[in-house]
Amino acid sequence: MLALPPLALYIHIPWCVKKCPYCDFNSHARPDALPVAEYVDALLADLEQDLPLVWGRPVTSVFFGGGTPSLFPGDAIARILDGCAARLSFRPGLEVTLETNPGTVEHDRFEAYRRAGVNRLSFGIQSFDDGCLQRLGRIHDSAQATRAVQLAQDAGFDNLNLDLMYALPGQTMAMALHDVERALALQPAHLSHYHLTLEPNTVFAARPPADLPEDDVAWDMQEACQAAIAAGGYAQYEVSAYARAGRQCAHNLNYWRFGDYLGIGAGAHGKLTLPAEDAILRRWKVKQPRDYLAKASTEARIGGDERLGEAQRPFDFMLNALRLEEGFTLALFEARTGLSREAIRSRLADLVARELVECVDEQVRPTELGRRFLNDVMGAFLP
Ligand SMILES: C[S@@+](CC[C@H](N)C(=O)[O-])C[C@H]1O[C@@H](n2cnc3c(N)ncnc32)[C@H](O)[C@@H]1O
Ligand code: SF4
Repeated sequence: MLALPPLALYIHIPWCVKKCPYCDFNSHARPDALPVAEYVDALLADLEQDLPLVWGRPVTSVFFGGGTPSLFPGDAIARILDGCAARLSFRPGLEVTLETNPGTVEHDRFEAYRRAGVNRLSFGIQSFDDGCLQRLGRIHDSAQATRAVQLAQDAGFDNLNLDLMYALPGQTMAMALHDVERALALQPAHLSHYHLTLEPNTVFAARPPADLPEDDVAWDMQEACQAAIAAGGYAQYEVSAYARAGRQCAHNLNYWRFGDYLGIGAGAHGKLTLPAEDAILRRWKVKQPRDYLAKASTEARIGGDERLGEAQRPFDFMLNALRLEEGFTLALFEARTGLSREAIRSRLADLVARELVECVDEQVRPTELGRRFLNDVMGAFLP
């Protein structure tokens, strides 16, 4: 039987100062005049219509993602959070994260975010090497990155995440390790360390940079950086996520544990469990900001939806849960997918025999070998 999991709220802000050549997020170079007030109205109208799907359920975390949410001033973020809190039931003390581009910030804005109720900031640092930042088409340099983090700390934020990417064009092992050192020196609560990937339909996919590190070099970088981050006092809890004790990202953990989330904003995705209908509903909103603004208060804001059939559920679950160091319990698999553990027994046994996965009592987790070939392990659960 499907059980109701925790519910998170995702809020998408679809604009950036400019589009980065590696990025396939739903983000668009900002127009001359950013329609902030109209977009806030649209988000609340969108939410209003989604309410019947989540009636009475407490919200356990909020995440402003982008795009670049830090393009929006504090009073707009306050209006969004107040509007959401008036319509939903926010669990007291819930984590509220806002993604921040170091090239778009100032001290007053951080204070306003805090007053609005944001209690965690995530910075898109990417690298502390000015040459790498330029090659990535970033709008900031390393001095701005450091300053932005320090301004946030001065404004009273103690729960910060820094995003770094590695395997960058022209990057050596020493440069990758130097980036990690610079990040750790700022003492963030959390670090995300992403392998730069060439995503379809990006400038980098069409014209790949000539000097990208080879796969085995990238793997060595990841292992060396992983060790350096661990030595700095951060425990890895997911493929790309490291945290100090008690500072794991509640919002992302809910995704990886196959929890529910409501998504509002242009192109925002949601996943909702409907136990009465024995269904898991995925839904997304129309992608283009202008289209979304025009349709936000009508049914036409829905870009599409699908119900996850039983055959599809194991793979969707594994795509998330196998990313976690802790893996998952068989009881969680049953509660979140509505399937019996029998549905995956033979596939799990095969992966255990190949030493890609270990099962101890109820707990299933990828082995070190399994983590290296994670896509293959996940692929074993395809319908
Ligand atoms: C929405 S952005 C963060 C906020 C803001 N837009 C920024 O970039 O500063 C999310 C993060 O995803 C990561 N990312 C984006 N594209 C990526 C790619 N192709 N490969 C690996 N990581 C990527 C970056 O580290 C980025 O900071
Ligand atoms: S990486 Fe961040 S700043 Fe760059 S285009 Fe993507 S969302 Fe915008």
